[in-house]
Amino acid sequence: MKIKKAIIPAGGYGTRFLPVTKAVPKELLPIVDKPMIQYIVEEAKASGVELIILIVNHGKEAIEDHFDVNYELEDILNKKGNHKLLGLIEGLSDMIGIVSIRQKRPLGLGHAVLQAKHLIGDEPFAVILGDDIIDAQRPCLRQMAEVYERYGKPVIAVQRVPREETSLYGIIKGRQTERGVYTIEDVVEKPSPGKAPSDLAIIGRYILIPEIFDTLEKVPAGAGGELQLTDGLKELLGKKGMIGYEFEGDRYDGGDKLGFLLANIAYAMKRPEIKEKLLTYIKGFR
Ligand code: G1P
Repeated sequence: MKIKKAIIPAGGYGTRFLPVTKAVPKELLPIVDKPMIQYIVEEAKASGVELIILIVNHGKEAIEDHFDVNYELEDILNKKGNHKLLGLIEGLSDMIGIVSIRQKRPLGLGHAVLQAKHLIGDEPFAVILGDDIIDAQRPCLRQMAEVYERYGKPVIAVQRVPREETSLYGIIKGRQTERGVYTIEDVVEKPSPGKAPSDLAIIGRYILIPEIFDTLEKVPAGAGGELQLTDGLKELLGKKGMIGYEFEGDRYDGGDKLGFLLANIAYAMKRPEIKEKLLTYIKGFR
């Protein structure tokens, strides 16, 4: 079954990026000249998604504006005859269907996902986390949708991380069934390196089934006192099974200062008009 809807939780406070995130949503910080969330939405669209469900909180209106029509700007660009930029701006608002829902309290990722329950209905859907930017030839979510087609079970993107970083991620315990594909036996949210069942970390891409909502309604608050999506997954995998998929592509942690800067360099290197000058600058840097 096609994955037509994707939930993008954007309700965080972006504290790791203060002070810039005091008034600017983290999701709108630019990688070269596009906000981070646009990369995520473009990946969803390229993977066949037709509707984005944004979970926002107070102060995130600018994200909605970014994907909305801006008549004034279009009019100005039109009058100036700047059709290239006009096309770019119009393309953004025409790109994909978007609705947004308010998460009224910051009660965790599981809670954020739960807010979209009434919009999902009886079909599999995706959850994409805006911090994880994945540069891949075949969009990561599309790769995952193909795995879902084959196995008919929820699919979670995973990637190996250094052991000392397990406490930053949900970590899976899995049995490899084919190259890059694991039958998940357990998931633990942010275990210390000593307690981590493996070095396979959950990266922010999930293909889930509506049953996850029932589980999320039942699980108690977990790590950090928040309703954790990982705890819902743990319940669900016992009932429905779950697949871990090691995707092909480069992942950048846009929620981390270094990861964000590396993403900027990597994407800037893809721009012929920037690449050479940037390389010259970096080579001369001490
Ligand atoms: C969330 C999830 C975690 C996952 C991570 C991926 O954590 O709770 O399981 O590994 O995203 O980026 P967060 O980064 O929001 O703390």
